[in-house]
Amino acid sequence: MTNRTFTMIKPDATSKGYSGAILDQISKAGFSIKAMKWTKLTVEQAGQFYEVHKERPFYGELVAFMSSGPIVAAILEKENAVADFRKLIGATNPAQAEEGTIRKKFAASMGENAVHGSDSDENAQIEGNFFFSNTERF
Ligand code: RTP
Ligand code: MG
Repeated sequence: MTNRTFTMIKPDATSKGYSGAILDQISKAGFSIKAMKWTKLTVEQAGQFYEVHKERPFYGELVAFMSSGPIVAAILEKENAVADFRKLIGATNPAQAEEGTIRKKFAASMGENAVHGSDSDENAQIEGNFFFSNTERF
């Protein structure tokens, strides 16, 4: 599964109507969609998804934000998917993201940064499994 990654378009970007433009940029960068859904996380689900950050000072804010509105969740395929997708989205803080990256173009702040991208093959698989059953990925 090393050619797959997992992404979410976060509530700031869906509420601003950026979902289509972001998916277009993802597609033009060579990623193909293997699973996708429009959904909304409960506070509990957002807390579980970002559990790795539980001890961080921004955890409460992150969980509140990620459960504040709809998201697009998707599994993406491309050679070297995890690393290439992190490159496409840019730095966590959009002020430090490279020109042309998704966060540079669509993100407002460090907390509300438009997209999530898995940070390893292992987490890509765990995160994809969090949202999608085997009958929802092709
Ligand atoms: P993500 O997991 O969402 O793709 O983001 P990332 O790897 O670039 O950053 P990570 O360190 O995993 O942090 C997860 C999300 O938490 C929020 N955050 N806020 N206020 C802050 O200092 C702070 N630091 C992180 C961001 O929404 C970040 O994407
Ligand atoms: Mg992360």
